[in-house]
Amino acid sequence: MPELTELKTWLWVDYDEIGSTNDEALRLSKDLLPNQKIVITAQKQSKGRGRRGRSWISLDGNLFMSMLFSWPLEDCGAITFMVSLALLNTVLKLSPQASVGLKWPNDVLLNNHKLSGILLERGEKNSLVIGIGVNIKNAPSGNNMLYPATSLKAQGVACDRITFLKQYLQEFDNICEKYKQEGLSSIVELWKQKAVGLGQKIIVRTPKMEEKGIFANINHDGMLQLKMNDGTIKTISAGDVFFDDNGDNN
Ligand code: BTN
Repeated sequence: MPELTELKTWLWVDYDEIGSTNDEALRLSKDLLPNQKIVITAQKQSKGRGRRGRSWISLDGNLFMSMLFSWPLEDCGAITFMVSLALLNTVLKLSPQASVGLKWPNDVLLNNHKLSGILLERGEKNSLVIGIGVNIKNAPSGNNMLYPATSLKAQGVACDRITFLKQYLQEFDNICEKYKQEGLSSIVELWKQKAVGLGQKIIVRTPKMEEKGIFANINHDGMLQLKMNDGTIKTISAGDVFFDDNGDNN
């Protein structure tokens, strides 16, 4: 184990440079003690990983973090909502008027641009690794972006990665408490209040399929429900959502 310092209810290590904070968290998971909650950050990340085997462009000044703690497999449906809600609440604490929303399954949008990404992985000993990238000072750009990105700085929110981290850990602990007290349904309800595109035409893409329809709901397991042209509901467990401004749903 590296030397860990206390940060709120967490044990924290901040590396000057690392390949991927998620890879480091996965390595540390084999020595995790039952009640330990560890958060790993790095000032620079050279091999950041994203969802579906994509890479995560890790620009200077941004936050790269991975949380590692024991979490039952059966509660994994809840965690993705808790993490993204905590991120959204963090932005609102820093900038109460910010126009923030949530894009299924777990992206935070600021002024309709992607601000952050979340990568969930299972570690050893029944643990969960939650990798989070937040564009604090810089946002990647270019034609090969899956979804247009922004940063807090570009939207006029002054912050640094450590200030964001401390506020985020507080918000995450608050949401965990709410989950323990009230269960998944109240978390899903809160998430839906901030969901972008509910009731609207969307496109859901995976490497194997593309579906168009109306974003009808998110069910209790966190799956997206798409109302198809013929009125049937298709339940989708994974994919990338795009807003179909011009689509005719055919
Ligand atoms: C996504 O594809 O949207 C998820 C991106 C997750 C990136 C973060 S940055 C910190 C952590 N370490 C990684 O290698 N990936 C995650």
